[in-house]
Amino acid sequence: MKKLLITGGARLSGTVRIHGAKNSVLPVLAACCLCTSPCVLHNCPDIEDVRTALAILESLGCKTRREGSTLCIDASGLSKFRVEKRLAGKMRSSILFLGALLARCGKAELALPGGCPLGERPIDLHVKSLAKLGARFRFEKGILQAAWRERRDGDIFLSIPSVGATENLLLACALMNGTVTLHGAAREPEITDLIGFLRAAGADIRGAGSGDITIRGVKKLHGATYTILPDRIETATYLCMAAGCGGEVELQRCDGRLLAPVIERLREAGCEINCDGSEIALKSSGKLTAVSPVTTAPYPGFPTDAQAILMAAVLRAKGESVFQETVFERRFLHVPELQKLGADIVLSGKTARVRGVAHLHGAMLRAEDLRGAAALITAGLLAEGESEVLGLSHLARGYENLEQNLKNLGAAIKSVDIPAPFVYNT
Ligand code: EPZ
Repeated sequence: MKKLLITGGARLSGTVRIHGAKNSVLPVLAACCLCTSPCVLHNCPDIEDVRTALAILESLGCKTRREGSTLCIDASGLSKFRVEKRLAGKMRSSILFLGALLARCGKAELALPGGCPLGERPIDLHVKSLAKLGARFRFEKGILQAAWRERRDGDIFLSIPSVGATENLLLACALMNGTVTLHGAAREPEITDLIGFLRAAGADIRGAGSGDITIRGVKKLHGATYTILPDRIETATYLCMAAGCGGEVELQRCDGRLLAPVIERLREAGCEINCDGSEIALKSSGKLTAVSPVTTAPYPGFPTDAQAILMAAVLRAKGESVFQETVFERRFLHVPELQKLGADIVLSGKTARVRGVAHLHGAMLRAEDLRGAAALITAGLLAEGESEVLGLSHLARGYENLEQNLKNLGAAIKSVDIPAPFVYNT
Protein backbone atom coordinates (compact mmCIF):
# COMPACT_ATOMS: atom_id res chain seq x y z
CA MET A 1 0.00 0.00 0.00
CA LYS A 2 1.32 3.47 -0.81
CA LYS A 3 0.39 7.07 -0.17
CA LEU A 4 1.48 10.26 -1.90
CA LEU A 5 3.37 12.99 -0.06
CA ILE A 6 2.98 16.40 -1.71
CA THR A 7 4.58 19.69 -0.77
CA GLY A 8 2.53 22.36 -2.49
CA GLY A 9 3.54 25.69 -4.00
CA ALA A 10 5.63 24.71 -7.03
CA ARG A 11 4.81 26.06 -10.46
CA LEU A 12 4.50 23.37 -13.15
CA SER A 13 6.54 23.74 -16.31
CA GLY A 14 7.55 21.30 -19.02
CA THR A 15 6.13 18.70 -21.37
CA VAL A 16 3.78 15.75 -20.88
CA ARG A 17 2.90 13.08 -23.44
CA ILE A 18 -0.77 12.12 -23.17
CA HIS A 19 -1.69 8.42 -23.31
CA GLY A 20 -4.49 6.64 -25.14
CA ALA A 21 -7.95 6.94 -23.60
CA LYS A 22 -8.84 4.52 -20.79
CA ASN A 23 -12.53 4.77 -21.68
CA SER A 24 -11.82 3.89 -25.30
CA VAL A 25 -9.26 1.09 -24.98
CA LEU A 26 -11.50 -0.79 -22.51
CA PRO A 27 -14.52 -1.20 -24.85
CA VAL A 28 -12.15 -1.88 -27.78
CA LEU A 29 -10.50 -4.70 -25.81
CA ALA A 30 -13.94 -6.22 -25.18
CA ALA A 31 -14.68 -5.81 -28.91
CA CYS A 32 -11.62 -7.92 -29.76
CA CYS A 33 -13.69 -10.93 -28.57
CA LEU A 34 -15.73 -10.58 -31.75
CA CYS A 35 -12.68 -10.91 -34.04
CA THR A 36 -11.67 -14.37 -35.24
CA SER A 37 -8.17 -13.22 -36.24
CA PRO A 38 -5.58 -11.16 -34.33
CA CYS A 39 -5.93 -7.44 -33.54
CA VAL A 40 -3.17 -4.88 -33.00
CA LEU A 41 -4.05 -1.86 -30.84
CA HIS A 42 -1.67 1.12 -30.67
CA ASN A 43 -1.54 3.88 -28.00
CA CYS A 44 -2.88 1.71 -25.16
CA PRO A 45 -2.22 3.05 -21.63
CA ASP A 46 -0.56 0.69 -19.15
CA ILE A 47 -3.06 1.11 -16.29
CA GLU A 48 -4.76 -1.25 -13.83
CA ASP A 49 -8.09 -1.39 -15.68
CA VAL A 50 -6.34 -2.40 -18.92
CA ARG A 51 -4.45 -5.12 -17.03
CA THR A 52 -7.79 -6.34 -15.69
CA ALA A 53 -9.32 -6.36 -19.18
CA LEU A 54 -6.34 -8.38 -20.48
CA ALA A 55 -6.77 -10.83 -17.61
CA ILE A 56 -10.45 -11.25 -18.53
CA LEU A 57 -9.54 -11.86 -22.18
CA GLU A 58 -6.99 -14.51 -21.18
CA SER A 59 -9.49 -16.15 -18.79
CA LEU A 60 -11.79 -16.53 -21.82
CA GLY A 61 -9.10 -18.28 -23.85
CA CYS A 62 -7.68 -15.32 -25.77
CA LYS A 63 -3.95 -14.60 -26.18
CA THR A 64 -2.66 -11.12 -25.28
CA ARG A 65 0.76 -9.49 -25.58
CA ARG A 66 1.99 -5.98 -24.78
CA GLU A 67 4.86 -4.40 -26.75
CA GLY A 68 5.30 -0.92 -25.27
CA SER A 69 2.01 0.91 -25.84
CA THR A 70 0.88 -1.66 -28.43
CA LEU A 71 -1.39 -4.57 -27.46
CA CYS A 72 -1.74 -7.69 -29.61
CA ILE A 73 -4.97 -9.60 -28.97
CA ASP A 74 -5.79 -12.97 -30.54
CA ALA A 75 -9.35 -14.05 -29.74
CA SER A 76 -9.41 -16.89 -32.28
CA GLY A 77 -9.14 -19.35 -29.40
CA LEU A 78 -11.89 -17.80 -27.29
CA SER A 79 -13.59 -20.80 -25.67
CA LYS A 80 -15.32 -19.57 -22.50
CA PHE A 81 -18.25 -17.26 -21.89
CA ARG A 82 -17.98 -16.70 -18.12
CA VAL A 83 -16.21 -13.70 -16.53
CA GLU A 84 -15.28 -14.58 -12.99
CA LYS A 85 -16.25 -12.40 -10.04
CA ARG A 86 -12.70 -11.55 -8.93
CA LEU A 87 -12.10 -9.85 -12.30
CA ALA A 88 -15.56 -8.49 -13.12
CA GLY A 89 -15.79 -6.75 -9.76
CA LYS A 90 -12.61 -4.72 -10.32
CA MET A 91 -13.99 -2.23 -12.83
CA ARG A 92 -17.15 -0.89 -14.45
CA SER A 93 -16.23 -1.81 -18.00
CA SER A 94 -16.22 -5.56 -17.29
CA ILE A 95 -19.96 -5.26 -18.09
CA LEU A 96 -19.00 -4.76 -21.75
CA PHE A 97 -18.06 -8.42 -21.98
CA LEU A 98 -21.82 -9.08 -21.72
CA GLY A 99 -22.45 -7.70 -25.20
CA ALA A 100 -19.19 -9.04 -26.58
CA LEU A 101 -19.79 -12.63 -25.39
CA LEU A 102 -23.43 -12.58 -26.47
CA ALA A 103 -22.20 -11.66 -29.94
CA ARG A 104 -19.40 -14.20 -30.10
CA CYS A 105 -20.84 -17.13 -28.07
CA GLY A 106 -24.58 -16.43 -28.02
CA LYS A 107 -24.43 -16.41 -24.22
CA ALA A 108 -22.56 -14.85 -21.33
CA GLU A 109 -22.17 -15.27 -17.59
CA LEU A 110 -20.59 -12.56 -15.51
CA ALA A 111 -20.57 -11.11 -12.04
CA LEU A 112 -21.81 -7.54 -11.72
CA PRO A 113 -19.22 -4.87 -12.44
CA GLY A 114 -17.26 -2.79 -9.93
CA GLY A 115 -15.87 0.68 -10.59
CA CYS A 116 -15.94 4.08 -8.90
CA PRO A 117 -18.65 4.46 -6.20
CA LEU A 118 -20.41 7.34 -7.96
CA GLY A 119 -23.93 6.28 -7.12
CA GLU A 120 -26.04 3.21 -7.79
CA ARG A 121 -24.71 2.69 -11.34
CA PRO A 122 -27.39 0.21 -12.40
CA ILE A 123 -27.31 -1.81 -15.64
CA ASP A 124 -31.07 -1.74 -16.26
CA LEU A 125 -30.70 0.02 -19.62
CA HIS A 126 -28.19 -2.60 -20.78
CA VAL A 127 -30.48 -5.49 -19.76
CA LYS A 128 -33.80 -3.99 -20.95
CA SER A 129 -32.38 -3.05 -24.36
CA LEU A 130 -30.76 -6.44 -24.98
CA ALA A 131 -33.92 -8.20 -23.78
CA LYS A 132 -35.91 -6.22 -26.34
CA LEU A 133 -33.60 -7.67 -29.00
CA GLY A 134 -34.23 -11.22 -27.82
CA ALA A 135 -31.75 -11.87 -25.03
CA ARG A 136 -32.98 -13.66 -21.92
CA PHE A 137 -31.48 -13.05 -18.48
CA ARG A 138 -31.26 -14.82 -15.14
CA PHE A 139 -29.54 -13.48 -12.04
CA GLU A 140 -28.40 -16.08 -9.52
CA LYS A 141 -25.90 -15.93 -6.69
CA GLY A 142 -24.45 -12.63 -7.94
CA ILE A 143 -23.98 -13.97 -11.47
CA LEU A 144 -25.85 -12.47 -14.42
CA GLN A 145 -26.61 -15.15 -17.04
CA ALA A 146 -27.61 -14.07 -20.54
CA ALA A 147 -28.39 -15.92 -23.76
CA TRP A 148 -30.02 -15.12 -27.09
CA ARG A 149 -33.42 -16.85 -27.14
CA GLU A 150 -34.12 -15.28 -30.52
CA ARG A 151 -32.63 -12.32 -32.35
CA ARG A 152 -35.04 -9.53 -33.07
CA ASP A 153 -33.89 -6.48 -34.94
CA GLY A 154 -35.57 -3.09 -34.71
CA ASP A 155 -35.29 0.20 -32.81
CA ILE A 156 -33.92 0.74 -29.30
CA PHE A 157 -34.71 4.02 -27.54
CA LEU A 158 -32.33 4.83 -24.66
CA SER A 159 -33.91 7.01 -21.97
CA ILE A 160 -30.40 8.10 -20.87
CA PRO A 161 -27.50 8.41 -23.36
CA SER A 162 -25.64 5.78 -21.35
CA VAL A 163 -22.06 5.30 -22.54
CA GLY A 164 -21.89 1.70 -21.31
CA ALA A 165 -25.32 0.70 -22.59
CA THR A 166 -24.52 2.17 -26.02
CA GLU A 167 -21.24 0.24 -26.10
CA ASN A 168 -22.88 -3.02 -25.02
CA LEU A 169 -25.50 -2.67 -27.74
CA LEU A 170 -22.87 -1.94 -30.39
CA LEU A 171 -20.97 -5.07 -29.34
CA ALA A 172 -24.03 -7.32 -29.08
CA CYS A 173 -25.48 -6.27 -32.46
CA ALA A 174 -22.34 -6.14 -34.60
CA LEU A 175 -22.61 -9.88 -35.43
CA MET A 176 -26.39 -10.14 -35.28
CA ASN A 177 -28.60 -10.90 -38.33
CA GLY A 178 -30.69 -7.91 -39.19
CA THR A 179 -30.53 -4.21 -38.49
CA VAL A 180 -30.77 -2.42 -35.15
CA THR A 181 -31.02 1.35 -34.76
CA LEU A 182 -30.16 3.00 -31.45
CA HIS A 183 -31.94 6.27 -30.65
CA GLY A 184 -30.72 8.55 -27.88
CA ALA A 185 -27.32 6.83 -27.91
CA ALA A 186 -24.22 8.28 -26.25
CA ARG A 187 -22.11 10.56 -28.47
CA GLU A 188 -18.81 10.50 -26.55
CA PRO A 189 -15.57 10.41 -28.62
CA GLU A 190 -14.88 7.01 -27.06
CA ILE A 191 -18.08 5.68 -28.67
CA THR A 192 -16.87 6.99 -32.03
CA ASP A 193 -13.53 5.29 -31.40
CA LEU A 194 -15.21 1.95 -30.64
CA ILE A 195 -17.24 2.23 -33.83
CA GLY A 196 -14.04 3.08 -35.71
CA PHE A 197 -12.42 -0.11 -34.45
CA LEU A 198 -15.50 -2.25 -35.20
CA ARG A 199 -15.72 -0.85 -38.72
CA ALA A 200 -11.99 -1.54 -39.22
CA ALA A 201 -12.79 -5.16 -38.26
CA GLY A 202 -15.57 -5.32 -40.86
CA ALA A 203 -18.67 -4.18 -38.97
CA ASP A 204 -21.39 -2.17 -40.72
CA ILE A 205 -22.21 0.67 -38.32
CA ARG A 206 -23.27 4.20 -39.24
CA GLY A 207 -24.09 7.31 -37.23
CA ALA A 208 -21.01 7.55 -34.99
CA GLY A 209 -21.12 10.76 -32.95
CA SER A 210 -24.83 11.22 -33.47
CA GLY A 211 -27.57 10.04 -31.12
CA ASP A 212 -28.89 7.68 -33.84
CA ILE A 213 -26.66 4.74 -34.70
CA THR A 214 -27.59 2.00 -37.19
CA ILE A 215 -25.93 -1.41 -36.92
CA ARG A 216 -26.32 -3.89 -39.77
CA GLY A 217 -25.10 -7.21 -38.39
CA VAL A 218 -22.43 -9.09 -40.34
CA LYS A 219 -21.48 -12.77 -40.27
CA LYS A 220 -18.00 -12.33 -38.82
CA LEU A 221 -15.37 -9.78 -37.91
CA HIS A 222 -11.73 -10.16 -38.89
CA GLY A 223 -8.74 -8.78 -36.98
CA ALA A 224 -7.91 -5.08 -37.21
CA THR A 225 -5.05 -2.70 -36.52
CA TYR A 226 -6.24 0.42 -34.72
CA THR A 227 -4.87 3.42 -32.80
CA ILE A 228 -6.73 4.46 -29.65
CA LEU A 229 -7.64 8.16 -29.44
CA PRO A 230 -6.00 10.44 -26.84
CA ASP A 231 -7.36 10.51 -23.29
CA ARG A 232 -9.33 13.77 -23.00
CA ILE A 233 -9.71 13.43 -19.22
CA GLU A 234 -5.99 12.84 -18.66
CA THR A 235 -5.45 15.94 -20.83
CA ALA A 236 -7.93 17.92 -18.72
CA THR A 237 -6.17 16.71 -15.57
CA TYR A 238 -2.76 18.13 -16.47
CA LEU A 239 -4.30 21.35 -17.80
CA CYS A 240 -6.20 21.92 -14.55
CA MET A 241 -3.15 21.12 -12.41
CA ALA A 242 -0.98 23.61 -14.30
CA ALA A 243 -3.75 26.21 -14.35
CA GLY A 244 -4.14 26.08 -10.58
CA CYS A 245 -0.42 25.93 -9.75
CA GLY A 246 0.70 28.41 -12.36
CA GLY A 247 3.36 27.69 -14.98
CA GLU A 248 3.78 26.74 -18.62
CA VAL A 249 3.06 23.22 -19.86
CA GLU A 250 2.93 21.63 -23.28
CA LEU A 251 0.83 18.51 -23.72
CA GLN A 252 1.69 16.26 -26.67
CA ARG A 253 -0.32 13.63 -28.54
CA CYS A 254 -3.64 15.05 -27.42
CA ASP A 255 -6.61 16.69 -29.12
CA GLY A 256 -8.08 19.93 -27.74
CA ARG A 257 -11.29 19.40 -29.74
CA LEU A 258 -12.24 16.51 -27.40
CA LEU A 259 -12.36 18.71 -24.28
CA ALA A 260 -13.59 22.07 -25.59
CA PRO A 261 -15.82 22.82 -22.55
CA VAL A 262 -12.87 22.38 -20.17
CA ILE A 263 -10.53 24.52 -22.26
CA GLU A 264 -13.20 27.21 -22.49
CA ARG A 265 -13.48 27.36 -18.67
CA LEU A 266 -9.71 27.50 -18.17
CA ARG A 267 -9.41 30.37 -20.65
CA GLU A 268 -12.24 32.10 -18.80
CA ALA A 269 -10.27 31.63 -15.54
CA GLY A 270 -7.35 33.52 -17.07
CA CYS A 271 -5.17 30.85 -18.71
CA GLU A 272 -3.61 31.31 -22.13
CA ILE A 273 -4.23 28.10 -24.07
CA ASN A 274 -3.12 27.34 -27.63
CA CYS A 275 -4.27 24.18 -29.39
CA ASP A 276 -2.17 23.26 -32.40
CA GLY A 277 -2.90 19.85 -33.97
CA SER A 278 -1.93 17.21 -31.44
CA GLU A 279 -0.42 19.71 -28.99
CA ILE A 280 -1.88 21.99 -26.34
CA ALA A 281 0.18 24.73 -24.67
CA LEU A 282 -1.07 26.36 -21.45
CA LYS A 283 0.33 29.37 -19.61
CA SER A 284 -1.05 30.37 -16.23
CA SER A 285 -0.09 32.93 -13.61
CA GLY A 286 -1.74 30.71 -11.00
CA LYS A 287 -3.94 33.66 -10.04
CA LEU A 288 -7.25 32.56 -11.54
CA THR A 289 -10.70 34.08 -11.58
CA ALA A 290 -13.82 32.05 -10.85
CA VAL A 291 -15.46 30.25 -13.80
CA SER A 292 -19.06 30.63 -14.96
CA PRO A 293 -21.47 27.95 -13.70
CA VAL A 294 -20.48 24.40 -14.71
CA THR A 295 -23.25 21.85 -15.27
CA THR A 296 -21.98 18.39 -16.15
CA ALA A 297 -23.77 16.67 -19.04
CA PRO A 298 -23.33 13.87 -21.58
CA TYR A 299 -21.02 14.74 -24.50
CA PRO A 300 -20.69 17.33 -25.94
CA GLY A 301 -21.52 18.95 -22.60
CA PHE A 302 -19.07 19.52 -19.76
CA PRO A 303 -17.62 16.08 -18.90
CA THR A 304 -18.58 14.77 -15.47
CA ASP A 305 -15.11 13.18 -15.23
CA ALA A 306 -13.50 16.65 -15.21
CA GLN A 307 -15.82 18.20 -12.58
CA ALA A 308 -13.73 17.34 -9.52
CA ILE A 309 -10.46 18.25 -11.23
CA LEU A 310 -11.61 21.71 -12.36
CA MET A 311 -13.11 22.33 -8.92
CA ALA A 312 -9.72 21.69 -7.33
CA ALA A 313 -8.01 24.02 -9.79
CA VAL A 314 -10.27 26.97 -8.89
CA LEU A 315 -10.16 26.61 -5.08
CA ARG A 316 -8.11 29.84 -4.88
CA ALA A 317 -9.72 31.59 -7.86
CA LYS A 318 -11.10 35.09 -7.21
CA GLY A 319 -14.89 34.95 -6.89
CA GLU A 320 -17.40 32.10 -6.76
CA SER A 321 -17.54 29.05 -9.08
CA VAL A 322 -20.68 26.92 -9.09
CA PHE A 323 -20.67 23.23 -10.08
CA GLN A 324 -23.81 21.24 -10.77
CA GLU A 325 -23.41 17.45 -11.14
CA THR A 326 -26.23 15.96 -13.21
CA VAL A 327 -24.75 12.64 -14.44
CA PHE A 328 -23.99 10.72 -11.24
CA GLU A 329 -25.80 10.87 -7.90
CA ARG A 330 -22.64 10.76 -5.73
CA ARG A 331 -19.90 12.64 -7.47
CA PHE A 332 -18.94 15.11 -4.75
CA LEU A 333 -16.99 12.63 -2.59
CA HIS A 334 -13.93 14.86 -3.00
CA VAL A 335 -15.63 17.92 -1.41
CA PRO A 336 -15.20 17.05 2.29
CA GLU A 337 -11.57 16.19 1.56
CA LEU A 338 -10.97 19.53 -0.18
CA GLN A 339 -12.56 21.28 2.80
CA LYS A 340 -9.84 19.75 5.02
CA LEU A 341 -7.34 21.93 3.09
CA GLY A 342 -9.35 25.06 3.93
CA ALA A 343 -11.42 25.17 0.74
CA ASP A 344 -14.64 27.20 1.00
CA ILE A 345 -17.24 24.90 -0.58
CA VAL A 346 -20.93 24.84 0.23
CA LEU A 347 -22.72 21.68 -0.91
CA SER A 348 -26.44 21.67 -1.51
CA GLY A 349 -27.85 18.62 -3.28
CA LYS A 350 -26.39 18.44 -6.78
CA THR A 351 -24.72 21.85 -6.48
CA ALA A 352 -21.36 22.86 -5.02
CA ARG A 353 -20.57 26.57 -4.55
CA VAL A 354 -16.81 27.19 -4.41
CA ARG A 355 -15.61 30.54 -3.11
CA GLY A 356 -11.92 31.20 -3.78
CA VAL A 357 -9.70 31.45 -0.69
CA ALA A 358 -6.31 33.14 -0.50
CA HIS A 359 -4.58 30.17 1.06
CA LEU A 360 -4.95 26.41 1.34
CA HIS A 361 -3.00 24.42 3.94
CA GLY A 362 -1.73 20.86 3.75
CA ALA A 363 -3.83 18.00 5.17
CA MET A 364 -4.22 14.21 5.13
CA LEU A 365 -6.64 13.31 2.35
CA ARG A 366 -8.32 10.08 1.28
CA ALA A 367 -9.48 9.48 -2.29
CA GLU A 368 -12.75 7.58 -2.82
CA ASP A 369 -12.75 7.43 -6.64
CA LEU A 370 -10.46 7.84 -9.64
CA ARG A 371 -11.12 11.44 -10.65
CA GLY A 372 -11.53 12.46 -7.02
CA ALA A 373 -7.98 11.20 -6.44
CA ALA A 374 -6.73 13.45 -9.25
CA ALA A 375 -8.61 16.36 -7.68
CA LEU A 376 -7.03 15.80 -4.26
CA ILE A 377 -3.56 15.72 -5.81
CA THR A 378 -4.34 18.94 -7.67
CA ALA A 379 -5.44 20.60 -4.43
CA GLY A 380 -2.36 19.28 -2.60
CA LEU A 381 -0.18 20.91 -5.26
CA LEU A 382 -1.91 24.24 -4.55
CA ALA A 383 -1.78 24.00 -0.74
CA GLU A 384 0.99 25.46 1.39
CA GLY A 385 2.88 22.79 3.28
CA GLU A 386 2.66 19.04 3.10
CA SER A 387 -0.37 16.93 2.18
CA GLU A 388 -0.81 13.19 2.13
CA VAL A 389 -3.15 11.44 -0.32
CA LEU A 390 -4.34 7.93 0.49
CA GLY A 391 -6.56 5.69 -1.64
CA LEU A 392 -4.10 5.44 -4.50
CA SER A 393 -5.61 2.17 -5.75
CA HIS A 394 -8.21 4.32 -7.48
CA LEU A 395 -5.51 6.38 -9.20
CA ALA A 396 -3.66 3.33 -10.56
CA ARG A 397 -6.80 2.26 -12.41
CA GLY A 398 -6.82 5.28 -14.70
CA TYR A 399 -3.56 7.23 -14.85
CA GLU A 400 -0.21 6.00 -16.20
CA ASN A 401 2.94 7.68 -14.87
CA LEU A 402 1.12 10.56 -13.16
CA GLU A 403 3.59 10.88 -10.27
CA GLN A 404 6.67 10.85 -12.54
CA ASN A 405 5.07 13.27 -14.99
CA LEU A 406 4.34 15.70 -12.15
CA LYS A 407 7.90 15.33 -10.82
CA ASN A 408 9.20 16.14 -14.32
CA LEU A 409 7.04 19.29 -14.28
CA GLY A 410 8.63 20.41 -11.01
CA ALA A 411 6.10 19.21 -8.44
CA ALA A 412 7.33 18.10 -5.02
CA ILE A 413 5.56 14.75 -4.92
CA LYS A 414 6.58 11.23 -3.99
CA SER A 415 4.91 7.96 -3.11
CA VAL A 416 5.90 6.18 0.09
CA ASP A 417 4.92 2.85 1.53
CA ILE A 418 2.32 2.81 4.25
CA PRO A 419 3.50 0.43 6.99
CA ALA A 420 1.21 -2.58 7.10
CA PRO A 421 -1.11 -2.36 10.10
CA PHE A 422 0.73 -3.91 13.02
CA VAL A 423 -0.98 -7.17 13.93
CA TYR A 424 -0.46 -8.33 17.51
CA ASN A 425 0.18 -12.07 17.67
CA THR A 426 -2.42 -13.12 20.20
C1 EPZ B 1 -18.67 5.73 -18.50
O1 EPZ B 1 -19.31 5.13 -17.38
C2 EPZ B 1 -17.25 6.06 -18.08
N1 EPZ B 1 -16.56 4.83 -17.71
C3 EPZ B 1 -17.26 7.01 -16.88
O2 EPZ B 1 -15.90 7.36 -16.59
C4 EPZ B 1 -18.01 8.28 -17.30
O3 EPZ B 1 -18.09 9.14 -16.18
C5 EPZ B 1 -19.43 7.90 -17.77
O4 EPZ B 1 -19.33 6.96 -18.85
C6 EPZ B 1 -20.20 9.11 -18.25
O5 EPZ B 1 -19.52 9.74 -19.28
C7 EPZ B 1 -16.05 4.04 -18.69
O6 EPZ B 1 -16.20 4.31 -19.87
C8 EPZ B 1 -15.30 2.81 -18.25
P1 EPZ B 1 -23.19 5.80 -18.13
P2 EPZ B 1 -20.76 4.41 -17.55
O7 EPZ B 1 -23.75 4.46 -18.39
O8 EPZ B 1 -20.83 3.74 -18.86
C9 EPZ B 1 -27.05 5.87 -15.36
C10 EPZ B 1 -13.98 7.58 -15.25
O9 EPZ B 1 -13.70 8.29 -14.27
N2 EPZ B 1 -27.35 4.55 -15.91
O10 EPZ B 1 -23.15 6.80 -19.23
O11 EPZ B 1 -21.01 3.61 -16.34
C11 EPZ B 1 -25.82 5.86 -14.47
O12 EPZ B 1 -26.15 5.44 -13.16
C12 EPZ B 1 -15.35 6.93 -15.32
O13 EPZ B 1 -13.21 7.35 -16.22
C13 EPZ B 1 -28.55 3.93 -15.58
O14 EPZ B 1 -29.37 4.50 -14.85
O15 EPZ B 1 -21.72 5.69 -17.54
C14 EPZ B 1 -25.36 7.29 -14.52
O16 EPZ B 1 -26.11 8.05 -13.60
C15 EPZ B 1 -16.23 7.28 -14.16
N3 EPZ B 1 -28.83 2.70 -16.08
C16 EPZ B 1 -25.71 7.72 -15.95
O17 EPZ B 1 -26.67 6.77 -16.42
C17 EPZ B 1 -27.94 2.03 -16.89
O18 EPZ B 1 -28.25 0.90 -17.33
C18 EPZ B 1 -24.52 7.70 -16.91
O19 EPZ B 1 -23.95 6.42 -16.86
C19 EPZ B 1 -26.71 2.66 -17.21
C20 EPZ B 1 -26.44 3.91 -16.71
